[in-house]
Amino acid sequence: MIAIVSVLLALLAPQTNALISGDLNCTTYNGTFFVYTPAATACSNAISDASCAVLYPVAVAADGYPMPNNNAERPRPCYTSAAATPAAIVQDMKTAALSSCAKTCGLCCQTSAYNCPNVAFPRLTCSTITRTQCTSPQWRTIIAQDCPSACGFCNDGGCVDAVPDCANDLSVCQAVGMQEFVNTNCQKTCQRCSSTTTARSGTGCTSFAADSSSNCRNWAANGFCTNTFYTIAQRRAYCATSCTLC
Ligand SMILES: *[C@@H]1O[C@H](CO)[C@@H](O)[C@H](O)[C@H]1NC(C)=O
Ligand SMILES: *[C@@H]1O[C@H](CO)[C@@H](O)[C@H](O)[C@H]1NC(C)=O
Repeated sequence: MIAIVSVLLALLAPQTNALISGDLNCTTYNGTFFVYTPAATACSNAISDASCAVLYPVAVAADGYPMPNNNAERPRPCYTSAAATPAAIVQDMKTAALSSCAKTCGLCCQTSAYNCPNVAFPRLTCSTITRTQCTSPQWRTIIAQDCPSACGFCNDGGCVDAVPDCANDLSVCQAVGMQEFVNTNCQKTCQRCSSTTTARSGTGCTSFAADSSSNCRNWAANGFCTNTFYTIAQRRAYCATSCTLC
């Protein structure tokens, strides 16, 4: 009996260390624990990973850094200036972490490239999109249109190259005999995405609720306000002013 109990305790013990406390952004509940989503670590750090490791040392050595599906505690300076957990979010600390070491902190989903609404009825499950799909010519175009937040396509307005390295050789856009290829694979680089711009219907009101996202100007320029993939309610909830929606 004692043996069984100690085996059980040994099995349970490592898990009690690991718990994400304080900031639950970029996590999802897996039925037992909050764990990081793929988008939590999908970006690159703005400074070197080695420098980030110095600024944001691992919280619990045995658990390591945030990774998709694990529940390693975030390094504390990623979200707070407090000396111990549990700690409240201090936005200054978070803003600094987001601009330097978003990947190390497991906060990629809150950077501007990853922080936007997905369409109302996506053709695939946005939350399970993998890094491999983000670079796959088969998937990139559909992901950019339906699940831009999954791969950091938020600032691309639904238009990405299906083949990621098109931009390395701009002459491909003009090459005779390559036009069929670039139309399907280098849409962004060669400007082959269809424009969804349509005239805005008059709405009658003259004042609008404030935009709730600071990226609205960028999104509006990329067609967010007129793209029918987003419901009117979604467009109004994020960018009422930029989209002039009453
Ligand atoms: C997510 O981040 C925002 C901004 O830092 C913060 O206000 C909010 O409390 C966080 N949400 C959760 C669930 O931790
Ligand atoms: C939830 O995540 C934890 C931490 O990675 C893992 O140990 C556990 O098996 C997961 N549970 C389920 C039901 O997937």
